[in-house]
Amino acid sequence: MKKILIKNAKVLDFEKGKEILRDVLIEGDTIVDVKESVLDENAEVLDIEGKYLFPGLIDAHAHFREPGEEYKEDIKSGSRAALHGGVTTVLAMPNTKPPLDSRAMIDFVIERAKEAGYAEVLPVGTITKGREGEELAEIGDMKEGGAVAFSDDGSWVRNSSVMRRALEYSIAFDTVIISHAEDSSLSHGIAHESVLSYEMGLEGYPAQQEEIAVFRDIKLAELTGGRLHIAHVSSSGSLKIIKDAKERGVNVTCEVTPNHLLLAQEEIDLFNPLYKVNPPVRSRNDRASLLNALKDGTIDIIATDHAPHNWYEKETDFNSAPFGMISLDFYFSLLYSELVSNNKLSLFDLVAAVTYKPAEIFKLKDRGRIAKGFLADLVVFDPRKEFVITEEFIRSKSKNTPFLGKKVKGSFVKVIKKGRVLDIEEI
Ligand code: DOR
Repeated sequence: MKKILIKNAKVLDFEKGKEILRDVLIEGDTIVDVKESVLDENAEVLDIEGKYLFPGLIDAHAHFREPGEEYKEDIKSGSRAALHGGVTTVLAMPNTKPPLDSRAMIDFVIERAKEAGYAEVLPVGTITKGREGEELAEIGDMKEGGAVAFSDDGSWVRNSSVMRRALEYSIAFDTVIISHAEDSSLSHGIAHESVLSYEMGLEGYPAQQEEIAVFRDIKLAELTGGRLHIAHVSSSGSLKIIKDAKERGVNVTCEVTPNHLLLAQEEIDLFNPLYKVNPPVRSRNDRASLLNALKDGTIDIIATDHAPHNWYEKETDFNSAPFGMISLDFYFSLLYSELVSNNKLSLFDLVAAVTYKPAEIFKLKDRGRIAKGFLADLVVFDPRKEFVITEEFIRSKSKNTPFLGKKVKGSFVKVIKKGRVLDIEEI
């Protein structure tokens, strides 16, 4: 089996909270040695000269639109965008057309991703048949076929009894139920409801629309002992509910998107559809709470909610444009540039939130760390290399991001996927 020896890698020692230099030996698709100095005459040497080596990123929330809306994205373009952004494993959400609600659909996604050969795609199955919220889907069957979690993402499971059963199933099938926490009877608007949204004449989307749903799902997780993960948390009120639940030992974790960590309603052009996302970009106060919650562990992970939409769908008026932004190609660099470089977030907190923490939540035992026996999914990061987020840079089929034209400092230069070394430009 082919051996590759990565020399002079700067790696993060999470136990000691220190950056250390290591040599990493890969054989086939596995890491076989990590030491201060490794010698192996039979290995091909890759000297990365003190650049960072991180585990390949794991994104727990992306929309790949296949089947049904391949003009926005497909599994090939989505998994390519992921790998280009340093993501070696990505969870694909099931709100496709038709939704991923059967074993056959799960098999289809896994096969398509294997054919494409970019990032590994782990499908998320729906909680309910047709994603309609009424009848549980075949969770056990889909889990056996390779679904790593279950969600009706895009919609909240409004029926409490159905959600209760789903959480009970999460114990029986040792899996995770992801909640798209949104009481949509309160979400008629398009922007976060605030004094500003009133002043601008935009119909609002109150934070309570999320908080009510978070509260109910936590209560059901408490009742059942089931495994709950809350997607794209956006309001400070939700964080208080989650923190309190964690302190009481409820089995709950949650994620935040790069969009909600970086954007604030007071600072964006509220009439630009590229900023239209669900949940909406909330206030500066919410954004500050999200960052603090990431640091204190209330928020466990960062997940993209990569939501591709075609240009003509977005280049319309704010009311009719669909919700969502892409970010797989560049989110790590953007977060590094905007938060780590400015000392708002430590590199350790950022890397943990996109590597071993998602691996722990979704029980991906063979990835997320640089250690003997783990998969050789690795990324080489140069903190000095700058680039501009352009349409040409983005490998996703859709370009719907308000960060187009933004210059960022810090770039992946190589991605190693199961032992295969790729230059970032060739992806
Ligand atoms: O903005 C969003 N877009 N939020 C979601 O929850 C769904 C997603 C989509 O599928 O476009």
